[in-house]
Amino acid sequence: MKRRIVILLALFVLGVLVLGCAQQEEAKTTPTPAKTAEKTPTPKPKEEKTPKPTPTPEKKSTPKPTPTPKKVEASSPLVECTVCHTKSTDYKPHVNGGQYCANCHGSNPHTIHVGPGTINLECSVCHGPPDNIQIPKPIEEGRTVCENCHAYPDATKPSYGNLVNIHLPRGKYCTVCHGTDVSGLHTAADSFVE
Ligand code: HEC
Ligand code: HEC
Ligand code: HEC
Ligand code: HEC
Ligand code: HEC
Repeated sequence: MKRRIVILLALFVLGVLVLGCAQQEEAKTTPTPAKTAEKTPTPKPKEEKTPKPTPTPEKKSTPKPTPTPKKVEASSPLVECTVCHTKSTDYKPHVNGGQYCANCHGSNPHTIHVGPGTINLECSVCHGPPDNIQIPKPIEEGRTVCENCHAYPDATKPSYGNLVNIHLPRGKYCTVCHGTDVSGLHTAADSFVE
């Protein structure tokens, strides 16, 4: 009889502890409104189904563009776009990407490169040494001046547009431009619906 009481007591204490933990976990995870009924202090031994604090499926803690520029690609937070888009470097809008730079970055080279919040380049990187100052002009007719530069890895060499080659090796994946709404991008894939 005494043993039973001790065991019951032990179970009770355990139950309270487990419940306490579970409730705490629940509080900070998803607001699942269920389970509150189980708060009764009668510790039944079927306590095993305490809601395990499901390890939140690896939060997409925005993979900071780690400065490990080496291969031709950074990794995607969602799906590897390049699994299917194996020739994205050759897509016309990417190759002729120079015309788009301004849409996203603005067209004033100074606000992008010089001053607080920018990489703050020396004037001479673009204008040459003080004894031979040049105003950069597009290398070819029909190109923007941005294309004079931004090759990888040497950004002072011409990129000739080529959006993918400029961004991916620098850790800016397809998704920085196309967003992460993969299905939205691929509505054509559902064209079988009427
Ligand atoms: C499983 C294969 C597959 C994957 C993965 C994939 N795509 Fe596509 N994507 C396609 C196909 C096929 C098309 C052409 C048909 C279409 O538009 O659905 C396409 C079309 C596109 C288009 C053009 C849409 C249009 O309306 O012109 C964009 C932009 C695009 N994909 C971006 C992406 C991005 C960004 C990713 C990664 C986040 C990605 N895709 C991943 C297969 C894929
Ligand atoms: C559709 C939008 C878009 C277009 C077009 C675009 N970019 Fe970008 N670019 C971005 C975004 C978004 C980033 C990432 C910004 C960030 O992480 O703060 C970026 C980043 C960069 C970076 C910095 C990479 C690094 O090392 O951090 C460079 C350089 C760059 N772009 C150059 C260009 C040039 C040159 C062009 C034209 C040939 C161009 N971009 C066209 C959206 C664009
Ligand atoms: C990333 C390259 C780059 C850097 C760095 C840069 N410039 Fe420029 N600058 C240009 C380009 C390109 C033009 C031509 C303007 C155009 O085509 O719109 C220009 C034009 C100019 C002009 C001509 C007037 C004008 O605004 O068009 C002056 C003056 C000038 N820059 C001064 C400077 C000074 C001073 C610095 C350093 C504090 C500097 N630039 C840094 C790229 C640069
Ligand atoms: C004369 C060469 C030159 C020209 C012209 C030039 N850039 Fe750059 N740009 C650079 C260099 C060098 C860097 C710094 C190295 C890097 O980020 O890869 C840079 C950096 C950048 C960055 C990243 C800035 C940051 O704070 O990290 C962006 C975005 C960018 N350039 C966009 C452009 C756009 C858009 C144009 C055209 C309006 C342009 N650049 C014209 C040489 C140039
Ligand atoms: C710097 C921004 C940028 C990056 C990075 C980028 N794209 Fe694009 N992409 C564009 C722009 C701008 C267009 C032209 C959009 C338009 O015409 O409206 C485009 C067009 C496309 C198209 C349509 C091609 C066509 O001929 O119509 C596909 C597919 C695509 N991108 C997939 C990708 C994939 C996959 C990646 C990564 C490997 C990628 N993009 C990286 C900016 C970018």
